[in-house]
Amino acid sequence: MPNLTFKGKSFVENHHLSIPYHQLIPNEEASLTDKVSLNDNLIIHGDNLIALKALMPSYQGRVKCIYIDPPYNTGNESWRYNDNVNSSMMQEWLKLNRPVDKEDLTRHDKWLCMMMPRLNLLKDFLRDDGVIFISIDDNEAHHLRMLMDEIFGSANFIAQLVWEKGRKNDAKLFSVGHEYMLVYAKSLARLKELKTIWRETKPGAKEIWEEYLLLREKHGANNQKVQAALKEWFSNLNDKHPSKRLSRYWRVDKYGPWRDRDISWPGGGGPRYDVMHPGTKQPCAVPERGWGFATPEAMKKQIDLGLVVFRKDHTKPPFRKAHLRPISEELLEDDEAEIDDESNVDGEIGTQVMSSVIYKQAQVAVKYLRNLMGGKVFNNPKDHEIIAKIIDYVTLPHNHDIVLDSFAGSGTTGHAVLQLNKDDGGNRQLILIETEDYATTVTAERLKRVINGVPEATDESLQKGIKGSFSFFELGNPINIDAVLSGAGLPSYEELARYLFYTATGEEFDPDSVLEKENYIGESTLFHVYLFYKPDLEYLQNTSLNLDLIRKLPDNQEKPRLIFAPTRFVDNEYLERHNIRFVQLPFEIYRFPSN
Ligand SMILES: C[S@@+](CC[C@H](N)C(=O)[O-])C[C@H]1O[C@@H](n2cnc3c(N)ncnc32)[C@H](O)[C@@H]1O
Repeated sequence: MPNLTFKGKSFVENHHLSIPYHQLIPNEEASLTDKVSLNDNLIIHGDNLIALKALMPSYQGRVKCIYIDPPYNTGNESWRYNDNVNSSMMQEWLKLNRPVDKEDLTRHDKWLCMMMPRLNLLKDFLRDDGVIFISIDDNEAHHLRMLMDEIFGSANFIAQLVWEKGRKNDAKLFSVGHEYMLVYAKSLARLKELKTIWRETKPGAKEIWEEYLLLREKHGANNQKVQAALKEWFSNLNDKHPSKRLSRYWRVDKYGPWRDRDISWPGGGGPRYDVMHPGTKQPCAVPERGWGFATPEAMKKQIDLGLVVFRKDHTKPPFRKAHLRPISEELLEDDEAEIDDESNVDGEIGTQVMSSVIYKQAQVAVKYLRNLMGGKVFNNPKDHEIIAKIIDYVTLPHNHDIVLDSFAGSGTTGHAVLQLNKDDGGNRQLILIETEDYATTVTAERLKRVINGVPEATDESLQKGIKGSFSFFELGNPINIDAVLSGAGLPSYEELARYLFYTATGEEFDPDSVLEKENYIGESTLFHVYLFYKPDLEYLQNTSLNLDLIRKLPDNQEKPRLIFAPTRFVDNEYLERHNIRFVQLPFEIYRFPSN
């Protein structure tokens, strides 16, 4: 396999492993919630390399969808490569710490050095069935693709989407108005194993279904009346209405609106057998590509269910019905099914596979953000509707799917998740990371405006708020957990308690619950949590969890006890009998028990 080499690669390949874990410090003022918590929607202010590492104990392997929009390295941006890589060559190379501009002959190397450890971490955040989308343009697309092949594996490449954003009439040779989104799976094999099929709702399909339900309510089981009214509804639609393009769905049966569809075998070479015309009692003409159903029995079943429509006579093949909402297998078995019963249909209304080309003018998002924020606050924001579309495509609304963006900028991804949840009543969770100080004034402010509404906005959809909350965190000091071994730079009891409690439970740490003398650091949904620790090497070397210490603990029978200590002198069986989960400092802290 071809290999990507670049200056500094050997120093950054494993850099992500050496990043120390940092504390995450809640910032209540910048949050929008009753209770700041790491389980909430999150905005983290800080360098994503450090922030991702800090989030890892809570979110590793839990994220369904990552969308990132890193600096494109156009040479006109002001990003700097200043990761603290432990190598004298790198330190020397980066000493000037200049913004990476066109004059910088190693700008592609620096960009790759910046991306590699971040992509390594991001991969670890994804669930087995997770996916990552990365926006990029021609400056780095080719390098990024090779880097992704190396980190994610070329077998996990899904697509390179093209986003056409508009013409540049001042271009001398070609108007390159598009950019890309690279799409990789954490494991394409896993997606296949899960028989994953991604579909998007056809624009306008929902509106037809809503109208259909209204007509059904009005006319009951009378298909003819519903059909006539639906046909009229279509004809009265304005040409720009998204449902207009789906006018073929004007016919109605008990399963809902349908359109005709070819009955032949896709690609040709299908079976040829006799299908009798019910009127003429003669075999119908067989389509050139053969019948679309493998056997006469399968065809008969479709006919019996009323899903095949015969023509006037047998000289032409019949056609199939394609329903706006696909019919479920169970329904095909059940003739008595209720018309408006949700089980009538197999999930989504009028779905289609997404094209690898997206068309949307860049200016739309620029104007929209200006309207939302009351002025220009950010260059080149992405379009939240497009980002919502791709998130919607790969996540489930009611599955607590987590969406992560570690180059958050103006918070477009957060906006997209909130809007999607509003539209489909979903419960997706968002995590945003932004390093610049505008994490509060732009990223968080945007989400606040989306949630609270902006009454003075000219766009009506922005005036009313939508449901949502988020917790804002700053990065704190590094937690040098290995200090437990060496004794150098040991964190205070509370500092370590906060870190371990957060990372182990994913829940808010309450310093007021700490009873240091009793080695107690708080109660989470699942555990009572204990920490045997002092910033004193001698204590650490001589303290082990033994029967004596355990007997002194309050017996909180209702919940298991999660105990952190440097070592233990009790066996597994005893721990289990007494409902104790033991975590050894520092070695096991990233292998928390989940129950
Ligand atoms: C191209 S912008 C993203 C724009 C975003 N998609 C939007 O629609 O607003 C890239 C963002 O990543 C941020 N960024 C760059 N390096 C970062 C880092 N190391 N950690 C966190 N954020 C970073 C930049 O400050 C910038 O806001």
